[in-house]
Amino acid sequence: MAAERGIVFHPSPVLRQKARPVERVDGFVAELVRDMHRLAREYDGIGLAAPQAGESLRIFVTCALYGEPERVFINPRLELKGEIVGGEEGCLSLPDIRAEIMRPPQARITAIDLEGNEFSLERDGIWARVWQHEFDHLEGTLIIDRMRPLDRLANRRALRDLERSAGGGRGR
Ligand code: NI
Repeated sequence: MAAERGIVFHPSPVLRQKARPVERVDGFVAELVRDMHRLAREYDGIGLAAPQAGESLRIFVTCALYGEPERVFINPRLELKGEIVGGEEGCLSLPDIRAEIMRPPQARITAIDLEGNEFSLERDGIWARVWQHEFDHLEGTLIIDRMRPLDRLANRRALRDLERSAGGGRGR
């Protein structure tokens, strides 16, 4: 029996790779997306990117929250608008770390769904932020790269503990 996918924690190398585009929406992708939705729900996430489930592919999912259904975004592209604003973010791959991250407040996303169809959505506020956070994962970028010096200082111990426990303990 294949091992069940779990959440990948910093500093795993897969989180730092630029993820590959999905060439075919096939059974492997469908199963990966099911696993990603399961993990996001299990860990009370808002969204989860494929590298966080150990697969370096350009896919992320979002959860059924704030009036939105569960969604999947394959090979997403983002267009951003507006003056950057701060908002608190966490990340399932960085337990116990929170930071205020500056991002544009409006986003338009174009992606492929599980049927292989392209779609576009526009949102502002929380979803524009979540999409940017998850898109960052596909580029190998984490909130620790974007946080401001004060937050870096505040999270120093949690980050050090996480990096020390690399390879064991934290996952299931
Ligand atoms: Ni994250």
